[in-house]
Amino acid sequence: MSFLIKRTHRLNELSSKNISDKVRVMGWVAKVRNLGNMIFVDLRDRYSTLQVVFEEELLEKASKLRNEFVIGVEGVVRERPQGMINTKMLTGSIEVKADSLAVLNKCEVLPFQITDTDISEHLRLKYRYLDLRREKMRRNIIERARFTKIVREELEREDFLDIETPYLQKSTPEGARDFVVPSRIHNGKFFALPQSPQQYKQILMIAGFDRYYQLAKCFRDEDLRADRQPEFTQIDCEMSFIDQDELLDEFESIMKKIISRFKNKTVEELFPEPLTRMTYKDSVDYYGTDKPDIRFENKLVDISDIVRGKGFKVFDDILESGGIVNALCFKDSGSYFTRKVLDNLMTTSKDYGLAGLSWAKKKEDLSWSSPIAKYFDSDTLSSIEEKTGFNKEGDTLIIGAGPYKKTKWGLGGLRNFLAKELNLYDKNELKLLWVVEFPMFEQSEEDGSISAAHHPFTSPFREDMDYLFTDPLRVRSRAYDMVLNGVELASGSIRIHDPETQSKVFEAIGLTRKEIESKFGFLIEAFKYGAPPHGGIAFGLDRLLMLLLGEESIKEVIPFPKTNKAQDLMSGAPGTVSDKDLSDLGIKITRMEEESLDDSE
Ligand code: AMO
Repeated sequence: MSFLIKRTHRLNELSSKNISDKVRVMGWVAKVRNLGNMIFVDLRDRYSTLQVVFEEELLEKASKLRNEFVIGVEGVVRERPQGMINTKMLTGSIEVKADSLAVLNKCEVLPFQITDTDISEHLRLKYRYLDLRREKMRRNIIERARFTKIVREELEREDFLDIETPYLQKSTPEGARDFVVPSRIHNGKFFALPQSPQQYKQILMIAGFDRYYQLAKCFRDEDLRADRQPEFTQIDCEMSFIDQDELLDEFESIMKKIISRFKNKTVEELFPEPLTRMTYKDSVDYYGTDKPDIRFENKLVDISDIVRGKGFKVFDDILESGGIVNALCFKDSGSYFTRKVLDNLMTTSKDYGLAGLSWAKKKEDLSWSSPIAKYFDSDTLSSIEEKTGFNKEGDTLIIGAGPYKKTKWGLGGLRNFLAKELNLYDKNELKLLWVVEFPMFEQSEEDGSISAAHHPFTSPFREDMDYLFTDPLRVRSRAYDMVLNGVELASGSIRIHDPETQSKVFEAIGLTRKEIESKFGFLIEAFKYGAPPHGGIAFGLDRLLMLLLGEESIKEVIPFPKTNKAQDLMSGAPGTVSDKDLSDLGIKITRMEEESLDDSE
C-alpha cells in the first residue's frame, strides 16, 4: 500500500480537541524508546513534537527506526494515560496510536545527536542542516523571520519604501576590503560587492524617494570576530528633508517599537525614558569607548589634577608629557580583588593596551591598602576618595596612567571585563543610547594619514569647518551611533549635499581629483542635479538579534554563517574555478593556497 504524502496536520495543530480523530502526520524521528511490546517515538517537525505509539503488527517495522529517519504515520489521536502527561510538550497530553508507518527516508549514522549541546563549531557548520534541526537553532531562525517581519511592518508604517540596490557595483567607502567579482565581458575590470548600499541610497534620495529602507546584504573582507561576519545584513535606511535631531527621534521611536514588539513588552516598560544622547567625547571620557555599556555605573574618573605635583614621580612624568591619571571605583568588591586577582589584572591590563596599573583597597579601619598611597598626603587621598566614591570598607580603586587615548580605551576595556567578572549587570536588561558628535576624521597610527572616521559623505559640523585644513582632527561630524549593551548596533550620519563641501572633505583626506572621479564620480555628478538635504542610518540586523536572543555570537542567528577564516565548511566555499573560466575572465593565478579547511572554534 503506498503512503499518501499529504499531512492532515502539522504537529502543533494537534491537541486534546482531536481525541479519536484519524490523522496523518510526518516528520523526523527525534527519539525512540523500545519497551518490547510498545515502541514510543517522538516525532518532530518545524512546529512541535508529538508522541507516536507503535504496537502489535507495527512493532517489527518500528523497531528499525533510528533517530532522524523521516517518517509518515497514520493513526488515531488518544489521551495519554494519567501520569504520562508531559507538560513540557505542546502536545504533551496526547499521543497518536499508529495504524500505519511509512519510512520516507533513512538517515546515516549522525556526526552528532540533535539533542547534544556541546558540539564543535566545525561539525556544526559542516553539517549545518543538522545543526539547524536543534531546538535552539530552530527557534533562532524562526525568531529571525518574526523579527524581520516586525522590522518591515514598523518601517513601512512610517512610509519607508523597500527598494533594492545592486550587488554588482563599484567600490563603497566603508573602510574594509572589498570582495571583488571579475567581469568576463570587460577583462581586467571588477565589480565590488557592496560593503553597504551607501551611495545608492543617497542616489535614491536625489531621485526623490524621500524615505528608503532595505534589509541589505553587505559584504566586507575584514578580520572576523564574534559580532562580525564577511556577509551580514543591515536594516539600511535613508531620509530626506530632516535634521539630525528629527532623524534620531524617528529612529529612536521606530527601534523602541521594534524591540518592544519583538519582546512582547510595551515601549513604556522597556524604555521608560528618552534615550541618552551622549557626545563621543563624554563617552570616551567616562566609559573609555565609543560604545558604552551603561547597564552599570563605574565611570572613569579623572584624578590627574588631584595627583599632579604631589611627589609621585611616575604620575608626574606622565602628566608632564600630556598624559592622564584615571581611576575606576568598584564598590564593595574587596573579596573579589584578592592579591592574586590584582596581580593577574596587571597582565590582563596589557591586553587592553595599558602600560601598567595601580590599585587601592579600603581596609576595615578605612585606611588605604595600596602600593602608591605612601606617595600622597592625607588631603590628596581624601580628594581622591571624594571624587571617586572610594570610601567604604571593601571598595577597590583601579588606577591607570599614560597617554590620553591609550589610557581611556584601556581602562574602558578593563571596565567591561571587570563588570562581567563582578556580575555588575543584569544580562536581560536592554540599555540603548545614542552616541553623537563623532570626530570627522581619524589618523592612522602607521603613517599619520587622515581618513574619514565614518565615511566621506558625512557632513562636518558647520562651526568646525574652519579647522578642516588647519586642525582636521578637531572637526566634529554629524555622525551618530546607536549602542545597545556595549555593542555598536547602528551607525549613520547627516550627509553632505552640496558639491563644494564634498570637494573640501575629499581634499582634506588627500584624495586627488582622479581618485575622486574614479571612486565616487557618479555620486558627485548626481549631487549637481538637485540633491535634497538627507541623512540615514544602518542597523546591524544580526547584531541586534544576537543581543535580543541573548546569544554571544552572530553565527547563532545567521542560517549559514562563515567560519572565522571566512569559509563555508558545508559547501567548501571559497573554491577554485576551471582554467577555462579563468581564461575567459583573463585571470592568471600566481599564488595558490594549499587546500585547508578551517577548524577554528
Ligand atoms: P557601518 O559600517 O557602521 O555603517 O555599519 C552599520 C552597522 O552594521 C553592522 N556591521 C556588521 N555586522 C556584522 N558583521 C560585520 N562585519 C559588520 N560591519 C558592520 C554594525 C554597524 O553599526 N553605510 C553606513 C551607514 C550609514 O551611514 O547610513 C554603514 O554601513 O551593527
